[in-house]
Amino acid sequence: MTVDLDALYQLTHGLYILGARDGDRFVGSTVDAVMQVANKPLVIALSCNNGSYTKDCIEKSGEFSLSVLGKNVDPFAVANFGFQTSRKVDKWEKVDYYVNNNLPFLRDNIAELHCKVLQKVVFESNTLFIAEVQNCSRTSDGEPLTYFDYRSFFKKDVMESFEKFIKNTPTEEKKGKIMAETNKKWVCTVCGYVYDGEVPFEELPDDYVCPLCGVGKDMFELQEV
Ligand SMILES: Cc1cc2nc3c(=O)[nH]c(=O)nc-3n(C[C@H](O)[C@H](O)[C@H](O)COP(=O)(O)O)c2cc1C
Repeated sequence: MTVDLDALYQLTHGLYILGARDGDRFVGSTVDAVMQVANKPLVIALSCNNGSYTKDCIEKSGEFSLSVLGKNVDPFAVANFGFQTSRKVDKWEKVDYYVNNNLPFLRDNIAELHCKVLQKVVFESNTLFIAEVQNCSRTSDGEPLTYFDYRSFFKKDVMESFEKFIKNTPTEEKKGKIMAETNKKWVCTVCGYVYDGEVPFEELPDDYVCPLCGVGKDMFELQEV
C-alpha cells in the first residue's frame, strides 16, 4: 500500500471546537474531521482520535457542540483545545464561551451546531460518530477557517500562541504539554504534540502512540520547533 500523507492533506475540512459534558464540567477539543452526510434527517459525521478524552465523554453523554471557526479566530483557541487534554486541564476557563442546551460554545464562532449521537463506528485509531443536528445557527459573518489554511499559514501562529502560553504557565502545569525549543524535535503531525521524553524517539517501541491524540509513531515528523 502506498500512503502519501500529502494526498490526504488535500481532503480539506474546516476547523471546529468540539464541546462536551463530563459530569458537571465541560471538556473539548480542536477537530477538523467533520462533514455533513445527510439532509433528511440532518446528519453529520465526526471522527475523534481514540486517545481523546472528549471522545470518551461524548460516548457517555451522547451529545456534543461544534463551534465553527472563522479566519479571524484567535490562534490560541486552536492551540488551547488541540495541544492539551481535558483530562488534565479545564480548557474552557481559558477562553470566552457561552452555554446553550447545557453545552459549551466558543464565543468567537461563525456558526454553532448542537448534535446528538445516533451511531458510532470504532476503528483502531478513531471513533466515528454519526450524529443528528438538533439545532444549528449562523452566528456571525466571516469566512470559515479551513484545515488547508491551518497547514499553510495559520499553524505557525497557533504554535507561537501556545509557546507564549506555556512560558507563562507555572512549571508543575507544564508536564505533558508542548514545550518551546529551538532545536529539532519529533512532532505529532495530527495534534502538534512534541515528544520530549528521555528515551530517544527512534528507540521507542513500534507500538508507541502519541499521548495526546493516539496516532502511531509513523505520524511523527522531525521538525524545527
Ligand atoms: C488542527 C487540529 C486538528 C485536529 N483534528 C482532530 C480531529 O479531527 N479529531 C480528533 O479527535 N482530534 C483532532 N485533533 C487533536 C485534538 O484536538 C487533540 O488530541 C486534543 O488534545 C484532544 O483533547 P482531549 O483529550 O481533551 O479530547 C486536532 C488537533 C489540531 C491542532
